[in-house]
Amino acid sequence: MNIVDIIIKKRNNNEFTKEEIEYFINGYVDGSIEEYQASSLLMAIYFNGMTDDELFNFTNAMINSGDTIDLSQIEGIKVDKHSTGGVGDKTTLVVGPILASLGIKFAKMSGRGLGHTGGTLDKLESIPGYKTSIPFEKFIEIVNDINISIIGQSKDLVPADKKLYALRDVTGTVESIPLIAASIMSKKLAVGTDIISLDVKLGNGAFMNNIDDARKLASLMINIAKKSGRSAFATITNMDEPLGEAIGNSLEVIEAINTLNGKGPKDFTELCIDLAGEIIYEAKMAQSIDLGKDLAKAQIKNGKALESLKNCVKAQGGDIRYIDDPSLFKLAKKRLEVKANRSGYVEAIDTKGLGILSSRLGAGREKITDKINHSTGILSKAKVGDMINVGDVLAIVYSDFADTSKIIEEVKSSYKIGDNKKSLKLIYDVIR
Ligand code: URA
Repeated sequence: MNIVDIIIKKRNNNEFTKEEIEYFINGYVDGSIEEYQASSLLMAIYFNGMTDDELFNFTNAMINSGDTIDLSQIEGIKVDKHSTGGVGDKTTLVVGPILASLGIKFAKMSGRGLGHTGGTLDKLESIPGYKTSIPFEKFIEIVNDINISIIGQSKDLVPADKKLYALRDVTGTVESIPLIAASIMSKKLAVGTDIISLDVKLGNGAFMNNIDDARKLASLMINIAKKSGRSAFATITNMDEPLGEAIGNSLEVIEAINTLNGKGPKDFTELCIDLAGEIIYEAKMAQSIDLGKDLAKAQIKNGKALESLKNCVKAQGGDIRYIDDPSLFKLAKKRLEVKANRSGYVEAIDTKGLGILSSRLGAGREKITDKINHSTGILSKAKVGDMINVGDVLAIVYSDFADTSKIIEEVKSSYKIGDNKKSLKLIYDVIR
C-alpha cells in the first residue's frame, strides 16, 4: 500500500477500503506518513466526503489508535453527554448531577477549553481543590458510590484525534462534517457508556451554522453509534446567543450552582431540564420525555441534584463551601458594566465574538499550554429579542487588565440593536 495512491483515490472521489483507512491512521500516528501527506488527504476528504462505511472504518481506526475505557465495573446505566461546543455551555455541571441524583451513572471524561469555547475541566478547576486527574480505579469507585465523577480524558484516549485535530486546525479542514463526526464519536465510543447524548450546537457561536449541516452531523454521529451497537441520540440546540448569562470559568460554575438552586437563567434551566429529561427517558426511568423532564425538575426542587454536585466536588477533593456559598468564588478585580448607547431590540449577538473576548480576558486559551484565569469572563445580560433602552446594561465584564477600554467597546459592538424584534428557538430538533 502507498499513501500517494490513497491520496489520489480520495482526490478522484473513490471509496477507501478498511485496510487503506487503517494504513493511513496508523501511519499518521506512528509518524511514517508525513504531515503534508496527511494534510493533502484531509483536504481531499473535506471536498469529497466519506461514505457511511468509510466513516465507520475511519472512526474505528481512530479508536484503535489508543486505549479504550472499560466501564463494566460500574453497575447500572452509564450515560455520557457531549456538546459540539459553544459559548457559556455549562450544561454538564447541571445535567450530570440531576442524572446522578436519580441513580443514573454519570461517568464523564471531559475536555479543556480551546479557542472561543470553554471546557468543563477548566470550569471545575475554579473550585479550589477539585482534582480533574485521579486514578482510574478511584473514578470507578466514586461513580459506583455516588453515581457521578467528572475527570479529564486520558492522554492515551484516541491519540489519532489529537494529531488529526491539530492538523485540521492549521489546514482549513476543521469544518468537514464527516471529520467532525469521526473526531467526536471516536472519543465517545472509546469509553464504554450505554447511552450517549449529543448536543449539536447550531448558530454563530458554533461549528454548525445551518440546520441542514447540524442535522447531517447529528445523523452521521448516530449512525456511527448504531453501527457500533451503541445507543445515541442528538438534540440540535441554539447557539446564536450565549447559553444562560455566564461566560468564563468561575462565573459559569456560579451559574450552574444557582441553576441547581432553582435560580438559573431561563434558557439555560430549560435546556438542562430538556437534555436531562431526554436522557432519563432513554435510560427507561420515565415513560415519556415529559415525565423525564418532570423528574429532572423535581430533583432540582428537592435539592437532590445540588447534593449530587456537592458529593462529586467533595469526592474529588474540592472545597464544598463554595457550592454552599458561591459568593466565596474569587472574581476579577474589575467589574465593568457595558451599557447600550441606543434603544431598540437586540437583533443579534456575535456569540463567537463574546467567546473570544472572554478568552482574551484570560478565561480561555489559544494554545492548549496557555494558563487561564478562572476569575475573568463576561455576563451577557441581554438576549436576542429583548427591548433595550439607552443606558441599559448589555453585559458585565470581569477583568484583571489595567486598560479595558478597547475590550468594553468590542463587547458593546457584539450586540446588534435595531428596530426588528427577533426571537430564537432554544431547541431545533431531536434526532434518534
Ligand atoms: N469537537 C471535536 O471533538 N472534534 C471536532 O472535530 C469538532 C468539535
